[in-house]
This record gives sequence, structure tokens and C-alpha cells, in this order.
Amino acid sequence: MSYKYRIQSYDNWLEPWLARFNAPKGTALDVGCGPGLDTQFLSTRGFEVQACDVSADALLQSGGLNPTVPHAIADARELLPYPDSIFSVVVAGLSLHYFDQGGSVRAFGAVHRVLKPGGLFLFRLNAWDDFEFGAPRVHDAWQVVAEANGAIKQFFTEAMIRELAAGRFSIVSMEKKRSERYSRPKSFFECCAIKPDHAPAPGAGRRA
Ligand SMILES: C[S@@+](CC[C@H](N)C(=O)[O-])C[C@H]1O[C@@H](n2cnc3c(N)ncnc32)[C@H](O)[C@@H]1O
Repeated sequence: MSYKYRIQSYDNWLEPWLARFNAPKGTALDVGCGPGLDTQFLSTRGFEVQACDVSADALLQSGGLNPTVPHAIADARELLPYPDSIFSVVVAGLSLHYFDQGGSVRAFGAVHRVLKPGGLFLFRLNAWDDFEFGAPRVHDAWQVVAEANGAIKQFFTEAMIRELAAGRFSIVSMEKKRSERYSRPKSFFECCAIKPDHAPAPGAGRRA
């Protein structure tokens, strides 16, 4: 995928969540790192960071900004370069909404696989009313929008995110936010989820 990304001002969105990590901070993965601002944030806060993206151009850009961080080409739906349960934190800033429903399920599954039990998943996803960036005026869950470059984009409701997390993550916080990207208002969900420490007890959640 060819990749062009202008670096914007950074809003420190990870700060409130990462305050809970004492030294040593642990391992972190930035999925869909783009130009590498989240990677830089994690690395300057003492995390042992790795970064990945499906775009070689993005990796070059992030690698330039974060020369000591290991970078790998990886599809978020597989995260093949990474073994199971190795990261304390996985961050995905506006990078997991390029898939249909099946792809989204796989991406959440891949993040779950690489996170340690008790690990934190911090992510941002396009919201259903992100009209300036292509959200349809009439929203149908899981209906993707085709981009001019052949890629697809997904726009999320809270229910869609809860559906993806169900059985894998406990959602600690989900907030719909607005900010500015490329001088246009951007609407997205910002979420913090945890991979539970324990597998649910057999039969948990089943109604009698
Ligand atoms: C809008 S940029 C966000 C970049 C960065 N995370 C940030 O918040 O600034 C989306 C990024 O997701 C990457 N991406 C798209 N599809 C991907 C996939 N299947 N696997 C991994 N990364 C992907 C793009 O290459 C791009 O770098």
C-alpha cells in the first residue's frame, strides 16, 4: 500500500492510560504505526516498543523518527511477526478500520493473541458520524465504504465495538471524541480495553 502521511501535532491521548504502569514499564506494540508518533510517545515513556504497519513507506517514516525501535511489516489481521502473549500494551491509533466485519474480527483476535493476560488495548476507530472523512449519511452496521484507491473504510457505532470486544476484552472506557485532522473535524471512538487475566469459568454468561 502506498502511504502518504503528514505529521500533525500530537495530542498525548495515551497519557492517562499509561500512568498506571510503574517502572519497568513493559513491552508495547504500535499496530498501524503510520508516521510513528504513538511509537515515539511509548518509547519516550520507557516502554520497550515494537511497531508495525502494512505499508513500507509508513515503516520508513516511523523508523526515521524512532531509529532504536524494531519495526516490522505486518497485517493487523494476523500480526504474524509476533508470538502469543508478549505485550503489556497494544496501541492502534485509527488503524483498525480498514476492514469488513470478518477482517475486524480477525484484527481484534490478533491483538488479543499477542497481548499478555491483563494487558491493555488502547485504540481509536472512525465513528459512524465521521462525515468529513467519508462516513455515509445513512449508517448501516458493517457496511464498508470504498475509497478511491481501492481500500475500504469502516465506520463504527458503540454497539459494533462492543460486539468485536465481546468474549475477548473488557471495555474499561469508550468515549466518542472530535478533533481536527488535515483541518477537518474528525469523529472517532477512543477506547481502553483489557484482556482479562483469567479465562471465563466454564458456563459463565450462560443463562440457566
Ligand atoms: C490513519 S493512519 C494512523 C497512523 C498512526 N497510528 C496514527 O495514529 O497517527 C492508519 C495506518 O494504518 C495502516 N494500516 C492500514 N491497513 C493496515 C493493515 N491491514 N495492517 C496494519 N496496518 C494497516 C496504514 O498503513 C496507516 O499507517
